[in-house]
Amino acid sequence: MLVTVSALSPAPDACTAAVRNSINWGTATSAYQVEGGWDADGKSPSIWDTLAQSPGKIADNTTGDVACDMYNRWAEDIALMKQLGVKNYRLSVAWTRIIPAGVAGSAVNMAGVNWYRNLIKALLAAGIRPAVTMYHWDLPQVLQDEYGGFLSPKIQEDFLYYADTLFKHLGDIVDQWMTFNEVISICELGYQVDVFAPQANKGLGAKYTCGHNVLLAHAKTMQLYRTKYAAQKGRVSIALDGKWGYPKDPNNPADVAAAENFMVFQYAWMADPLYFGDYPAVMKETQGALLPKFTAEESKLLRATTIDFFSVNFYCGYYVWAPAPGSPKELTYDVGANTGGQFISPGIPSNAPWLFKTPDGLRLTLQWLAKRYNGPEFWITENGVSGPDEDWKPLPAVLDDVYRQDYYKTYLDNLCLAKSVDGVNVGNYYAWSWMDNFEWRDGFKKRFGIIYIDLKNNLARHPKGTAKWLSQHFFNINPVAPATLRAASVARQTPAAAAAVPKPAAAPSTVAVSSKGKGFSLPFSFALNKGSGFGLSVKFGPQGK
Ligand code: NOJ
Repeated sequence: MLVTVSALSPAPDACTAAVRNSINWGTATSAYQVEGGWDADGKSPSIWDTLAQSPGKIADNTTGDVACDMYNRWAEDIALMKQLGVKNYRLSVAWTRIIPAGVAGSAVNMAGVNWYRNLIKALLAAGIRPAVTMYHWDLPQVLQDEYGGFLSPKIQEDFLYYADTLFKHLGDIVDQWMTFNEVISICELGYQVDVFAPQANKGLGAKYTCGHNVLLAHAKTMQLYRTKYAAQKGRVSIALDGKWGYPKDPNNPADVAAAENFMVFQYAWMADPLYFGDYPAVMKETQGALLPKFTAEESKLLRATTIDFFSVNFYCGYYVWAPAPGSPKELTYDVGANTGGQFISPGIPSNAPWLFKTPDGLRLTLQWLAKRYNGPEFWITENGVSGPDEDWKPLPAVLDDVYRQDYYKTYLDNLCLAKSVDGVNVGNYYAWSWMDNFEWRDGFKKRFGIIYIDLKNNLARHPKGTAKWLSQHFFNINPVAPATLRAASVARQTPAAAAAVPKPAAAPSTVAVSSKGKGFSLPFSFALNKGSGFGLSVKFGPQGK
């Protein structure tokens, strides 16, 4: 049964047509979470292949070996995006498809390059403008084995070679780049603790060393693009993650100061070096020798290569309070999970223990960042929620995702208020995620998609109500996407790398969306264990997921 337009709630009040028209709306995925084809056409294993293929590591024993099989079904996915009016799509490239041996100077795998060229050209032809993340957590396993991945400065040179390869082979059809996705997730969950691959579990210093190498690899990439690839005239950023900090007691100055520190230790850890060339003062004062130092040269490079737009992945906020008396000086704030507890939040819980519905946190975060960094252009490169029971509910019911629609409605209301009332310069917005996908340690148990993926029926794609709602009020609102212009320029190019690429398979022509089965229960699962991928072992770190 088709969902009728009347079944959908109206656009948020603050999102007037004028405000909606001023933002480029889109949706996002990442390579490992959707592609599958884990060893196809010369691809080497990544640290996530290794982790997911190890028995007992993933909540539902799935892997990313096939995931949503986008590796084979991308034409179908692009056709569905087009049908829903999507005009902006954020994706990531798998390093292991492009440079299987990982290291600088090693062979470029043209089969991998051409797979992405094919995909991106088809997106452009469908009027969809890509924004490409270079690194969304799938490090070549070989680099982890050889020198410990992001804990070694060697990663900087290898990443730069990879970035250079991407600019060289995709830069004529991609003009929006993000170097890294979510440095806190990479460095805290992957290196400080053992939640994400490579499960290094090497403590707080490892998080900072990892972040330092990420920043320098990023800055060198920016420099490369602005010199060697200046003629491509694209824009480059880095996707940063963080939660909003609500002071537990807003009348207690110690809690207010702790909430401020919470923000500084997340966003400013990365963004202060990017804008000002150094780590925040409070981090240098309290983290001691754990926090690496920039040389004068590095600091200069960072200041000279400021990002072209500020990319924020935003999901929710937590209560933050002052650390208990006698806590080590490294602990400048507490969010529960820091000290062996659990995140608490003023928001409504979701089915993920780290995710709450706190819509004003998005507006507050943007206000905080706009003030600290003097009003740059912001892109919300991820925002979304996993729906309750979507891993088991029958098809018609699972598609009627009123919970998710309400999440988007309230968050987008706040986004539009940030733009229209606070004057925050919001450029782009990407809903996470285009489709249900491999949600890391949670496998397919936690589903963030606006498109449902039916694991039991050949990975069939079914738009949820949210996809219809976003389509009606947001995706379809931008009259002419810039992608149309890019598509025209792509048609004029005949790059050698694009030669001999097979034609995409035919796309489906109809989309059925169910409107049945309202009213599901919310059995919030707060079972926190390693299998569900939550970092309660985090010490002094800002977030776990
Ligand atoms: C952030 C990550 O970038 C993405 O990969 C993940 O699926 C979402 N958060 C939801 O947890």
